[in-house]
Amino acid sequence: MRFKDKVALVTGAAQGIGFGCAKRFAEEGAQVALVDLNEEVGRKSAATLPGSAFLRCDAGIKAEVDRTIAATIERFGRIDVVVNNAGIVRPKPLLEMAEEDFDLVIRTNLKSTFLFTQGAARHMIERGIKGAFVNMSSTSTTITMPTHTAYASSKGGISSMTKAVSLALAPHGIRVNAIGPGTIETDMTARLLNDPKSRSNILSRTPLGRFGTTGDVAAVAAFLASEDAAYLTGQTIYLEGGRMGLNYVMPVA
Ligand SMILES: NC(=O)c1ccc[n+]([C@@H]2O[C@H](COP(=O)([O-])OP(=O)(O)OC[C@H]3O[C@@H](n4cnc5c(N)ncnc54)[C@H](O)[C@@H]3O)[C@@H](O)[C@H]2O)c1
Repeated sequence: MRFKDKVALVTGAAQGIGFGCAKRFAEEGAQVALVDLNEEVGRKSAATLPGSAFLRCDAGIKAEVDRTIAATIERFGRIDVVVNNAGIVRPKPLLEMAEEDFDLVIRTNLKSTFLFTQGAARHMIERGIKGAFVNMSSTSTTITMPTHTAYASSKGGISSMTKAVSLALAPHGIRVNAIGPGTIETDMTARLLNDPKSRSNILSRTPLGRFGTTGDVAAVAAFLASEDAAYLTGQTIYLEGGRMGLNYVMPVA
């Protein structure tokens, strides 16, 4: 019950990793605001977590973010933890990528993280809340794909933003960290993981020999947001089954 009497706001919480985090925070005693664009799935998910609420919001639009932060404070009284998790991929070959594709990925993944962080940090500082932020980055900050120009840029930006914001908020006792998942089984990866060839490609580069679960990510998010991580800030924790340690002389299974 590390989050008893605490309020957590999780973006992209209707399903996948975001819902996994929301569930874990609720199980550890938090009241949780599940924030997502997808109202239908979000409402059903929130209904499974007693004491939580669903709030519809496009996390990349400032007016909606401000309204959602205000509604969370009105409903639960405060915000102690924010998990900036909302994200999309939209893989596109570089030469075919439209400006709109690039903007949408950057706005949804990166700008949303800035907007929720700034808005919630203002509230925490005003109220003297020594809160915590957990940002969903990716191994794509470091190892990526040719179709991931926008996605990799957004995730590299999230990890860099995590460092800069951790410095800005450290004097207020507020910590900011990120998680860089490898391959986690969710709707985002379903198409890849349903294809036997890419499934085996991915596993051949995953030393622990399995895909990650939303529970694996939620456990690290809960740790980072808790007092157990009281001296940890500005870091990206890569949760990827050992993939980033592999080098080119390692045999592939
Ligand atoms: N699944 C993986 O292997 C993996 C790996 C690395 C990083 N991540 C990151 O984890 C996060 C969650 O991914 P997931 O796998 O659970 O994906 P998912 O597609 O299952 O869930 C993403 C959620 O974000 C919501 N969302 C999308 N745009 C939004 C917006 N503008 N405003 C509010 N909500 C919005 C969607 O409705 C959905 O509920 C993403 O940031 C993703 O980049 C995932």
